[in-house]
Amino acid sequence: MEIAEKISQVRETVKKWKKEGLTVGLVPTMGYLHEGHASLVECADRMCDRVVVSVFVNPTQFAPGEDLETYPRDFERDCALLENCGCDLVFHPEVSEMYEEDAATYVEILSDMPKQLCGKTRPIHFRGVCTVVAKLFNIVEPDKAFFGQKDAQQLAIIRRMVRDMSYGIEIIGCPIVREKDGLAKSSRNTYLNEEERRAALILSQTVFLGEKLVREGERDADRLLSAMKAKLETEPLARIDYVSAVDAVTMAPVAQIKGSVLVAMAVYIGKTRLIDNFIAEVQPL
Ligand code: PAF
Repeated sequence: MEIAEKISQVRETVKKWKKEGLTVGLVPTMGYLHEGHASLVECADRMCDRVVVSVFVNPTQFAPGEDLETYPRDFERDCALLENCGCDLVFHPEVSEMYEEDAATYVEILSDMPKQLCGKTRPIHFRGVCTVVAKLFNIVEPDKAFFGQKDAQQLAIIRRMVRDMSYGIEIIGCPIVREKDGLAKSSRNTYLNEEERRAALILSQTVFLGEKLVREGERDADRLLSAMKAKLETEPLARIDYVSAVDAVTMAPVAQIKGSVLVAMAVYIGKTRLIDNFIAEVQPL
């Protein structure tokens, strides 16, 4: 497995692969990898001849006061995990390699899409995500790129960016990976102390409740969301940021659960903000 810190090295290696007629998959990450990331890399390994994983804590997607400085990092451990799941090249640039000091060009979706859900409390987040992912696409020029369904809004936004900017890259969304007890895997789970780790189970329990209610026929978004909020409120350590039902493609709020609806939540457990979601697929009779 090759490790590159420079854009030019990535370009050289990918160029060589493409000359050999090999297909390339990209898995963008911020490191501190867990089984959720491993499942993306394994999926990329199955679908592509060569796999590039980027490990880069992207400063432009963090607002002042968010956890940029404390975001967990362990590059050696990341490399050990990546060796075992089919990664061929790790791209691990310095911030200065990705952003010139006077960089002033951003990629931003100017619709309501990035303003919904997480965008309400993180107004610059998706501009930073789109900008860095666009840069990674330009550097690696992959055939396919892999993102987790856990960051459902991010996945929808990247699909939209790819469409709007005519990137010839296929975006593959991969299912949420959960701990045995249900908690969605996240690098931020390491922030939780023992009591918070137990309390964090309220997110997945609420997702499972929501899925059950939809399965049993609930089609009214307000009633569904009220039941889910009531469940979250049973956990004293949980503070709801949002629980919303939106169109799974446009992120526009919906009143009825029909078609493809993303039911998503962000909840603080202590100081740690966690997200979880499910997609309700309800076909008209
Ligand atoms: O999901 C993430 O880890 C990040 O938002 C991404 C896509 C790697 C961009 O920095």
